[in-house]
Amino acid sequence: MTLEAVPPATPEPPTRRDRTLAALVADGVTWGDAAVWLPRLPERSIDLYFTSPPYADARAYSRIHPDRYVEWFLPFARDMLAAAKPTGSFVLNIKNRVAKSGPLKGQRHPYVYELVLALQHMGWRWLETYIWAKPNAVPGRFGPRTKDSFEYVYHFAAGPKPYWNLDAIRVPYKTSAEEIERRRLDQNGRRNTEAGFGRDRTRTYERGGADPGNVIFVPQTYNQYYGVNHTAAMPEGLAEFFVKAACPPKGVVLDPFAGSGTTVVAARRHGRRGAGIELHEEYAKEARTRVEAGIADFEPGELQVAQ
Ligand SMILES: C[S@@+](CC[C@H](N)C(=O)[O-])C[C@H]1O[C@@H](n2cnc3c(N)ncnc32)[C@H](O)[C@@H]1O
Repeated sequence: MTLEAVPPATPEPPTRRDRTLAALVADGVTWGDAAVWLPRLPERSIDLYFTSPPYADARAYSRIHPDRYVEWFLPFARDMLAAAKPTGSFVLNIKNRVAKSGPLKGQRHPYVYELVLALQHMGWRWLETYIWAKPNAVPGRFGPRTKDSFEYVYHFAAGPKPYWNLDAIRVPYKTSAEEIERRRLDQNGRRNTEAGFGRDRTRTYERGGADPGNVIFVPQTYNQYYGVNHTAAMPEGLAEFFVKAACPPKGVVLDPFAGSGTTVVAARRHGRRGAGIELHEEYAKEARTRVEAGIADFEPGELQVAQ
């Protein structure tokens, strides 16, 4: 499907802020411009924004030059912060680019790092950087570098006490149940050691699963769904990981750049109120069918987390 670079005028949100949020949640994925809908959200209403916005200079549907990316993104981020709950989070999936022109031509463009610093400066508290590692990254011609096989996932918080449930994303222990029990009771594990940096390493053996790390392995989704194929869908597993950890049950998850609706599907599957905004009508329509079916990836890839 070919989409025009400048889509036609999109529908307006309701004038009352509480109705705006209710309309988004009821719709699943709303055809609209995030620049118009985000400023109409009620204050302190969103638990989690999980989104993968258009990357710089990337695709025909919205070309944003990397030099202007931060300037383009910041108004969205400002409105998102104003509508976030004090315990709310913003999880941003984004990827580096190689500059195609200008003085940095052929080098990695710093727009991702500039954006992270600008968001932190705005008041979004930068909590963590995750690496989404793709075991199935596509081959291609990349110049004097290897193929791109990871993307960043940045976690920001609106306030100093964000909601965070590590237990919801624990991963299976690598060793046997007997060995876990032995380690749980092992008094030596509680000692301050040089290798353990003084932490009580036995705690992890009492929590029903191993501590997940900040490298997440999950295959990229490649146009698997029959219908209007979005060319930049992210995997369900990535969205699920952050929905479970960073949004309380029944909380509101909003994806302002919803694409094929992956975030909304993942949020609803896990008992959260999922909503999305998508600029292109055809994508929004297709996303709603995915949300209704409860399926984003036709063949979901298995998620693994570094321990
Ligand atoms: C990288 S894609 C998101 C893909 C999505 N994560 C998924 O899994 O399908 C970014 C999306 O943002 C949409 N978009 C761009 N500008 C927008 C705006 N101002 N408001 C709402 N959506 C926008 C694009 O049409 C595109 O579908």
